[in-house]
Amino acid sequence: MPNSLVEETKRIVAQFDYSDDDVNKGVREFLRQMNEGLQKDGTSISQIPTYVTGVPNGTEKGLYMAVDLGGTNFRVCSVHLNGDTTFNLTYSKVAIPKELMVAKTSKELFGFLAKQIEFFLKTHHEEHFEAHVRRRRSSKTAEGYEDENLFQLGFTFSFPVQQFGINKGSLIRWTKGFDIPDAVGKDVCALLQDEIDLLHLPVKVAALVNDTVGTLMARSYTSPGKTATLIGAIFGTGTNGAYVEKITNLQKSVDGVYDKSTGEMVINTEWGSFDNQLNVLPKTQFDATLDRESVNPGIQIFEKRVSGMFLGEIVRLAVVSLYENANVSLFKGVTSNTNGEQSTTHIGDDSGLFQQWGLDSSLMSVAVADDTPELSSLRQELDSQLKIRSASVEDAQAFKNIAHAVGRRAARLSAVALGSIVIQSGRLKETSDDLVDIGADGSLVEHYPFFRDMIYEALKAIEGIGPEGAERIRIGLATDGSGVGAALIALVAAGMEKKAIVDEIAALKNAAAQKIAGAIPSAGESATLT
Ligand code: BGC
Repeated sequence: MPNSLVEETKRIVAQFDYSDDDVNKGVREFLRQMNEGLQKDGTSISQIPTYVTGVPNGTEKGLYMAVDLGGTNFRVCSVHLNGDTTFNLTYSKVAIPKELMVAKTSKELFGFLAKQIEFFLKTHHEEHFEAHVRRRRSSKTAEGYEDENLFQLGFTFSFPVQQFGINKGSLIRWTKGFDIPDAVGKDVCALLQDEIDLLHLPVKVAALVNDTVGTLMARSYTSPGKTATLIGAIFGTGTNGAYVEKITNLQKSVDGVYDKSTGEMVINTEWGSFDNQLNVLPKTQFDATLDRESVNPGIQIFEKRVSGMFLGEIVRLAVVSLYENANVSLFKGVTSNTNGEQSTTHIGDDSGLFQQWGLDSSLMSVAVADDTPELSSLRQELDSQLKIRSASVEDAQAFKNIAHAVGRRAARLSAVALGSIVIQSGRLKETSDDLVDIGADGSLVEHYPFFRDMIYEALKAIEGIGPEGAERIRIGLATDGSGVGAALIALVAAGMEKKAIVDEIAALKNAAAQKIAGAIPSAGESATLT
């Protein structure tokens, strides 16, 4: 690499350093903001009560439906829980049209979702569907249609929602590029149920589920251990985590009905908004530009440094600054091929390098994974994805170093969130050998090379965890949380509803008995009791 390119790349890479000291500072502030969120509303880390008060143990059974809206795709699935930690899942997936993410009215988006559910039922559950459509036509709402065979649906809606019941909650704000203002403040379950009812589908939206909660449930169902899973985490298009908290630590008021007997409740942290006020998070010029030019400046500040939707953009901004630096030759030189031919590097006019969001984070994975001396896969991808023709090995190396630095900072920040929750739970102290289980999902943990290893490396540096503690933390993949996890919560919800009905019948019987006792007709009178 020419000297100036080496030096300038190093200068940029250094801006993404996130030292062990920074990690510990981050943990202290994360714990402070977590506890603030447990006490009052309107804080950076929202700490949303989910009304889910227990995690599964693998023996749950039944057929449920789940849908998942949260990022790039909309998924519809039916899940058969076999009751032996296994399940069978049938699903279909469609990309959400970009224009619907910023639709004028929420009806456009939710109408589209209901249509997909209809299509799925017709394709995969035709008999069941036809029989029910015939019967449902005679009643207007899912509630009015009293049928044991109504599909109970878990709605994975992966945006910040203030819940006020297991299937009720109003949207706080959109994230990840969605922006449909009229949905904010509305009950998203009702929005979906209304559209389902318009199509007379045999489906009841039984549970509202954040993808992190689904991941936690799915992981608990498939990997039951001596101690239940503590955290469900997503490191994908967006990032967030849910964990099991002691109800006594939850000091803000939680309205509505939930089972208090377990003494615990799953909390959706919405950690994507950790430190929106930038008390401790790193702030390079690239982070600042990304935020300023996003649809939601000033919020989801942690997410904008950690998740897949944003990492590519940070790399792009850093690489462009290097490209525009007059003292540096990046993507401008003459390259010699292995067969001796020479060609000048040039960038296609419509290259994503010069467009906002034009660099997909998956290119970072290619860069980091390429260990060949010539960086040939990376150079090939720079050509096909970014139209950077004939990049030199030096150019590719500079790109790789920047991608690595941005990815590593993201993993170490992820460790701040996970490590803080492990400390908050006290589980490492409660016993001396049990594992603390974490279920994780999302493209970064699944595909980004060594993402989990980099998280572990930072966990070891956290005071209160250390190398021994890190050994006892198990971060396992929990794919399909949005399917099986949502189904499990629909199951819990159906159980809660049955219990509520049984309780209500018992209360009615009781009231009637008292009424009867007080209304026993005296001789010669008559009474009619209903
Ligand atoms: C949302 C969370 C979600 C996360 C992962 C974030 O943008 O606010 O609700 O869990 O993305 O999908």
